[in-house]
Amino acid sequence: MNTRLLAADAQSIGQAAELLRSGRIVAFPTETVYGLGANALDGAAVRGIFQAKGRPGDNPLIVHIEDLQQTAALCAWSEGAAVLAAAFWPGPLTMILPKKALVPHEVTAGLSTVGIRMPSHPVARALLKACGLPIAAPSANRSGRPSPTTAGHVYADLQGLIPLILDGGPCEFGLESTVLDLSGASPTVLRPGAVTPEQIALVLGQCDVAETVMRPLLPGEGAPSPGMRHRHYAPRARLSLVEGSADEVARCISAAYDRQPGARIMAMHEHLGLYGSRRVDDLGPDAASAAHRLFYLLRSYDEQDVACIYCETLPATGLGLAVMNRLARAAQFDIIKAGYNASITSKESNT
Ligand code: TXA
Ligand code: MG
Repeated sequence: MNTRLLAADAQSIGQAAELLRSGRIVAFPTETVYGLGANALDGAAVRGIFQAKGRPGDNPLIVHIEDLQQTAALCAWSEGAAVLAAAFWPGPLTMILPKKALVPHEVTAGLSTVGIRMPSHPVARALLKACGLPIAAPSANRSGRPSPTTAGHVYADLQGLIPLILDGGPCEFGLESTVLDLSGASPTVLRPGAVTPEQIALVLGQCDVAETVMRPLLPGEGAPSPGMRHRHYAPRARLSLVEGSADEVARCISAAYDRQPGARIMAMHEHLGLYGSRRVDDLGPDAASAAHRLFYLLRSYDEQDVACIYCETLPATGLGLAVMNRLARAAQFDIIKAGYNASITSKESNT
């Protein structure tokens, strides 16, 4: 299949809407990451997404809407959901709610709940409006790769597998939406994102964070969100995170870097000077800039065949929780305490 990559304008958005109405799948930008969309009410079209991504069939999709009135047909709406929608929609928040019969089981992977999100990106909104349908869309990467934050990333992963990619430039946030489960006894963040647990608690009075946000599933443990069962956000290089005071971390990472030709470092802007003349990629001044750059950097390492990456950790509060959740998964929870750099040495001898 020939994959067209078109600048998002009224004409290409019209073509994408026509493809969606005829049961095809298209990639489009959102404010978080690029999505791979199909008509959420058409089970056969949704199966096409799983096929193109190579996604396990037990991992449900998020349904994107343009208008609050669309929720009535899709899910059991609640007072809490209405309060959150008023505060954070359109924007990077997905709410998990009891589903209605109209939503095909392909979308929810057989679950009785459905994830709903109203994106804010003007191209996503224009596409939703033009096709007049709810759009089921996961991130537009091949399963197991970092989420795409540019149209070029989508093309690299899905070229030949989908008919059209709408190019709306780089995504604003660069990390996927916050997934908040509203179907249980208390609101619980299953995946942290740009809407933080702190912000949700301010609006709802409380907000829990699933323990599995910052640790791997234990053997036999059930996943609160099916996506957690799967390997995620994995660059091809081995990624190690190093935590501790800035000086200790820089010493530990620098020593490991010096022993590994071709290794790469990711560090916060204020620490760049601690690494001397070593090659360091700048995560920027704060968690928002780190979120924006993270997947972009991980993908660039894959393109350059980097084998080994060392990265500083961030405080896991606010948006830092979302960055650390993605980093910890990409590193397969390989988090080293600076000062105990014996663990880095022993790992190197295994590679
Ligand atoms: O920002 C985003 O959320 C992007 C853009 C395209 O909207 N989409 C995205 O989709 O990241 P995806 O499929 O890559 O991640 C959706 C996550 C998965 O971890 C999935 O398991 C979880 O949401 N999820 C979806 N429906 C669920 C449900 N009913 N119950 C629990 N978890 C659910
Ligand atoms: Mg994804």
